[in-house]
Amino acid sequence: MPVVRSIAKMQHLSRRLTAQGKRIGLVPTMGYLHGGHLALIRRAKRNADVVVTTIFVNPKQFAPGEDFERYPRDERGDLRKIAGAGGDIVFIPRAEEMYPDGFQTYVGVEQLTNVLEGSVRPGHFKGVTTVVAKLFNIVRPDVVVFGMKDFQQAVVLRRMTRDLGYPIRYMVAPTVRERDGLAMSSRNAYLNPVARREALCLYYALRTAKAMVRTRVMDVHKIEREMRGVILSTCPTAKIDYIAFTDLSTLTPRRKIAGDVVASLAVRVHGVRLIDNMRLA
Ligand code: PAF
Repeated sequence: MPVVRSIAKMQHLSRRLTAQGKRIGLVPTMGYLHGGHLALIRRAKRNADVVVTTIFVNPKQFAPGEDFERYPRDERGDLRKIAGAGGDIVFIPRAEEMYPDGFQTYVGVEQLTNVLEGSVRPGHFKGVTTVVAKLFNIVRPDVVVFGMKDFQQAVVLRRMTRDLGYPIRYMVAPTVRERDGLAMSSRNAYLNPVARREALCLYYALRTAKAMVRTRVMDVHKIEREMRGVILSTCPTAKIDYIAFTDLSTLTPRRKIAGDVVASLAVRVHGVRLIDNMRLA
């Protein structure tokens, strides 16, 4: 499986594949792959001839004090997993080449990035949209697949793809969960055994919300109150960054559950910040 580390080589390879009539699927990642990423690769493979997986821990989407330095990395393991999932090419650009000296050009999406994660991680989405636009320009994919686990990211990047007119089929794959319900995430590697158990508080809270909606409780304040109770009874030291109920595609806040509403939350479990979400109706 070819591993490409230079932008020029990746551009050349993509152009050649396109000239041969091959449809390119792209799966952007920050590495330390888990079952969720592998599901994205398999989804891309079903919708394209050649799948390019990128591994790049993007410094621009981490604020000072966040976990950029200690973000888990395992290139050798990742390459093995990508090959096993049917990936064809891996692009691992160097930070110096992605962001050369004097770099000062960014891509930004406006309103959609002011809420949820954007409200607590200023600058985060500007880093995400900039790097993904660069990856689009380098790889020139026909299809791209992102995960629903990062729900807001999926909405923001869909907007960017449309607004900038990229001729790319945009796909979002469902969240993959561990057997007990914890959403797969590279950051789960930070959890010690107690934190791992208590990290289920996010999933339990979301399941509670879903069960309430099934019994026709449609008032988000009531649902949120229950969710907070579930979180704190599962993880008494949890710090809740936010619990939000928003429209699936516009991210506008909802006071009542009606239409396609997503509950999303960010919680610090023993110091590890985790996010998760679930469609309620
Ligand atoms: O979801 C991620 O891992 C990252 O935000 C992405 C899309 C690869 C951009 O760095």
